[in-house]
Parts: sequence; C-alpha cells; structure tokens
Amino acid sequence: MRYILNAVKTFMLCAIIFPVLLSQCYAQSVTGPSEKPRIGIIGAGWMGGTVGRAWVRAGYHVMFSTRHPQELESMVKPLGKLASIGTPREAAAYGDVIFLATPYGAIPQISHDYAKELSGKVILDATNASGGHGSIFDEAEKDGDAVTNARYFHYAKLVRAFSSVWANAIEASSVRANDKLAVPIASNDPAALPVAETLVKAAGCVPVSIGDLSKAYLFELGGPAVSINTTEAHMRTLLGLAPQ
Ligand SMILES: NC(=O)c1ccc[n+]([C@@H]2O[C@H](COP(=O)([O-])OP(=O)(O)OC[C@H]3O[C@@H](n4cnc5c(N)ncnc54)[C@H](OP(=O)(O)O)[C@@H]3O)[C@@H](O)[C@H]2O)c1
Repeated sequence: MRYILNAVKTFMLCAIIFPVLLSQCYAQSVTGPSEKPRIGIIGAGWMGGTVGRAWVRAGYHVMFSTRHPQELESMVKPLGKLASIGTPREAAAYGDVIFLATPYGAIPQISHDYAKELSGKVILDATNASGGHGSIFDEAEKDGDAVTNARYFHYAKLVRAFSSVWANAIEASSVRANDKLAVPIASNDPAALPVAETLVKAAGCVPVSIGDLSKAYLFELGGPAVSINTTEAHMRTLLGLAPQ
C-alpha cells in the first residue's frame, strides 16, 4: 500500500514540476537573447566613464573599474543601482561584455592577467597606440592597433569600437535626438558585431560597421575617418561605404 502511495506522490510531483520547468525553459528561450548583457569597464577614465554612464542611463548594469576603484565613488554612486565599482579583475569577471578604455601600454598586462576572466567574451576596444614606447607600440605601428590588440586578446571576441571618436562627442550625441555621432566598428567575429552595434546605439550613437579588422586602419591614426566626429552619412563616405 505504502509503495502505491509513494508512486502516486511521485507521479503527482512530476505532473506539477515538469510543466513548471518546461515553461521556465520556454520563457528563457524567448527572453534570454533580448536580455541586456552586463558590462564590465576596464579603464573608467574619461572615455570609459563617459560611455559607461550612457549605458547606465540606457538601463544596463555596468561595473566601472580602475586600479584605484575607490576614486570612482563620486562618479559612480549618483548613477544608482545599475552601476557598481570593482577592480579590473572583478570587472573582467562581471561583464558579459567588456569595454576596454585604458592607455595602450596596459594591454600586454591586462590581456595576460585577466585572460581567464575575459576568455570567450566580446571586448569593445577603444584603445589607441598614440604617444607611447615599447614593443606593443612597435607592433601597432607595423600591423595597426586593431590587429595588434586582437593578437593579444586572441582568446576573446574583439570589436574595435569608440576608438576613433572623442568622449565629449559621445556625451553630446547621447543626449541629443538627431544627428547622432557615427561610430565606426570592425571585428573578425561576425557574431560580435551585432552585440557592438546594439551597445553603440545604447550609448546614443550610430554604428557604422566596416567588416573585419583588416579594414580598421581606415579609422586608426593616419586613416581618413579618425577623430572626425561626424554623422553616419559623412562617415560612410569617408570609409568608402555605400550610402545607407
Ligand atoms: N578620451 C577620449 O576622447 C578618447 C577617444 C578615443 C579613444 N580613447 C582611448 O581610450 C583610452 C583611454 O583614454 P582616456 O582619455 O579615457 O584616458 P584616462 O582618462 O586617463 O583613463 C584611462 C583609465 O585607464 C585606467 N588604467 C590605466 N592603466 C590601467 C591598468 N593597467 N589596468 C586597469 N586600468 C588602468 C586609469 O585608471 P588608473 O590609473 O587609476 O588605473 C584610467 O581610469 C586610450 O587608449 C585612448 O586612446 C580616448
């Protein structure tokens, strides 16, 4: 008798639990891709702070970091619950997507020290090799900033983004309705480009995708589309792209 009762209980439990689990799986498959990724910012100075604040305003969870995170309190606290402060390692671990905005010379150290945390993630890379010395600057001069960075972060999905526009131009674009700032982007990973496009739009700008990193020299130092801070139509002309 006890055996039959246990069997009935088990059957009833399954009848209740399975539909609940199934509906949760279905809900996740529907809502999952549309959920906002968490963003970890490595280098929350002028550029990282500006773009990070725009993402918080757009409803993203953002962790801001520098090597002196205690100095970020006055900027981050007023942003509310979506914003947090961490060390660079914590931001690397926190972010589904990483925004890298440090001095260029820090790339060998960051790519080495946080490889475990960054592995497999989309990294939006805004860094420029200007005004420094050392082997990475020589590599960048020879191969270009984007290609060099992709080599250092070979274990991640690197997208060149925000590197060729000014932080104050991003700030201005993020709060105006029209004539949005065009932000050229490039990546060797086709699946990472839509992620970057969404985040460029969330920062109040317009993404202009140019394809893989071999073309990123067009918006690196010496290229026609660097530091122009212009509209999409003009940017497309500068990059030799067909009008939209
Ligand atoms: N500002 C712009 O308009 C602009 C435009 C396009 C591209 N960029 C590029 O963006 C990058 C940052 O420029 P920025 O103007 O924002 O400079 P910034 O204001 O000096 O900010 C750099 C940030 O990187 C952090 N940092 C430095 N070394 C680090 C390390 N080893 N690990 C972790 N964090 C580190 C610094 O904080 P701690 O020293 O406290 O760690 C600081 O918060 C540069 O590569 C620049 O070429 C800037």
